Amino acid sequence: MRILFLGDVVGRPGRECVLSRLPGLVSDWSLDLVVVNAENAAGGFGITEAIYEDLLEAGADAITLGNHAFDQREALVFIERAPALVRPLNYPRGTPGRGAALVEAKNGARVLVMNVMGRIFMDPLDDPFAGLDSALDGAVLGEMVDAVVVDVHAETTSEKQAIGHYCDGRASLVVGTHTHVPTADHRILPHGTAYLTDAGMCGCYDGVIGMDKEEPIRRFTRKVASGRFEPVSGPGTLSGVAVETCDRTGLAQKVGPVRLGGGLEDARPAFWES
Ligand code: FE2
Repeated sequence: MRILFLGDVVGRPGRECVLSRLPGLVSDWSLDLVVVNAENAAGGFGITEAIYEDLLEAGADAITLGNHAFDQREALVFIERAPALVRPLNYPRGTPGRGAALVEAKNGARVLVMNVMGRIFMDPLDDPFAGLDSALDGAVLGEMVDAVVVDVHAETTSEKQAIGHYCDGRASLVVGTHTHVPTADHRILPHGTAYLTDAGMCGCYDGVIGMDKEEPIRRFTRKVASGRFEPVSGPGTLSGVAVETCDRTGLAQKVGPVRLGGGLEDARPAFWES
């Protein structure tokens, strides 16, 4: 099956490039599954129910989150009626929502989508490795589910790589989010899991991780907050990763970067373009 994962949607430039381009990509590339990290979609912080609905309408089958999951307070409530919205699975017990969701792909396939947060330079959460074990034990790839997608929302490349190898052979794709900068290490790990350390953001790159550059520079140089972080306005780049999996095993056969529009050089999966 054909899977497209899109990195963190940041503010209006991110929403606009995803909403305008995704429907065309779903048909041009005959996508079976689209997963979008949208934890920064609402003004750079969190997600609203209206944005969640818009993304599903544009072709997303599941939406993942991260440390900004509940910045928009309404998410604490609507996540319970949003079956395709996935927050980090290693949040404390009692947190609203779910950390893993079984969704139906466009081709009818059963897919487990998970979101897990790293702990290095981030909030002290439950062990991500143990959390992944329990979720993966209940969803054996190629037997109980047709594909497994793991979004690792983490700061460090080391923790993301460790989680990639830890899930190798048990997931179709392990992809990092949160840094908002795409990495170039897409590959298939020895036991068949497609891996990318960071998918990059869907947003405008002429800023500091999607935010207007003035306030971040002021805070770095003067250590005094003198304004709010606002998403930079400008053309957005759609950024993510394309994966083709084996219908029998659920493991990856092809993986390639996707970057379209905005300030970065375009990258398209040659294996889907003909
Ligand atoms: Fe984040």
